[in-house]
Amino acid sequence: MKQSLIIDCDPGVDDATGLLTAFASPDLDLLAVTTVGGNVSAAKTARNARILRQIARREDVPVYAGAERPLRRAPAGAGEFHGREGLGDLTPFEPVGPVAEGTAAGAIVQQVMARPAGSVALAVMGPMTNLALALRAEPTLAAHLGPVVVMGGARSEGGNITASAEFNIWADPDAAAEVFASGCRMIVMGLDVTHQVRATEARIASIEALPTASAKTAAAMLRFSQRVERQIVGWDAGPLHDPCTVAWLLKPDLFELRPCRIEVETESELTRGHTAVEFRVDAANADHFWATKADAAGIFALITQRLGEGA
Ligand code: BDR
Ligand code: CA
Repeated sequence: MKQSLIIDCDPGVDDATGLLTAFASPDLDLLAVTTVGGNVSAAKTARNARILRQIARREDVPVYAGAERPLRRAPAGAGEFHGREGLGDLTPFEPVGPVAEGTAAGAIVQQVMARPAGSVALAVMGPMTNLALALRAEPTLAAHLGPVVVMGGARSEGGNITASAEFNIWADPDAAAEVFASGCRMIVMGLDVTHQVRATEARIASIEALPTASAKTAAAMLRFSQRVERQIVGWDAGPLHDPCTVAWLLKPDLFELRPCRIEVETESELTRGHTAVEFRVDAANADHFWATKADAAGIFALITQRLGEGA
């Protein structure tokens, strides 16, 4: 049976590869894409999701625009890693398909509550503002949701925006704290695992060689990341963050998870957005699962295969 899924994202070059992989996956029933301000402004992320939808020829999937700013903070941004418009070197165009009517948070509530409990998964690739708003609006949502697969957080690897914090959690730590405390069942792809999944030259070249527009676009995103990661961080092969969420939904065996309890620092300016990952929990009753290991070759093989079979 197809896995029903909503993707909440802030494209973003790595969001783009995750979205294109999901659009190209026939075993996912993609109910909606919701967008949020994060890497670039909310207006740009909503436009970028529609551009990617058009490239993938998936106009059947509604795109809902979401929160323009975090719950309590000023909007940040990560344009240096994603390009000013959020899609690397790709020159944005006005997509044909409009945004759907309604809010991202409203769409999450409506789509999830209209279906059997536990049946709709959520892949969260950006700050968790939309999901926090949805959980506030519908108190029974947490119990009704299927797995919430999140890209966010850092433990052993340290942070990528500050010493302590990963960008998505840091950008809206208050939303993340609410979501982690909500009782949702969460699979968490933090930097400890996404840093294991490296876009090597050979892996990018394999995607680039595919004939589909989805693959060519994803390869352009990976090339852009390769350049900025070399320039800014000094890494030869940059990490692939957001597509790990989609990869887990398609093939969970590619990852090792540990049951845990995660709390988010919201008070300290120094450690804002730090994810405290506590492994000393009752494993049988844990809500949170921290990814510790990823099969990078398997993840790239999966993504490459899907992008090759898409539009
Ligand atoms: C996360 O931050 C964003 O810049 C990326 O799109 C990804 O979701 C990695 O820390
Ligand atoms: Ca993202």
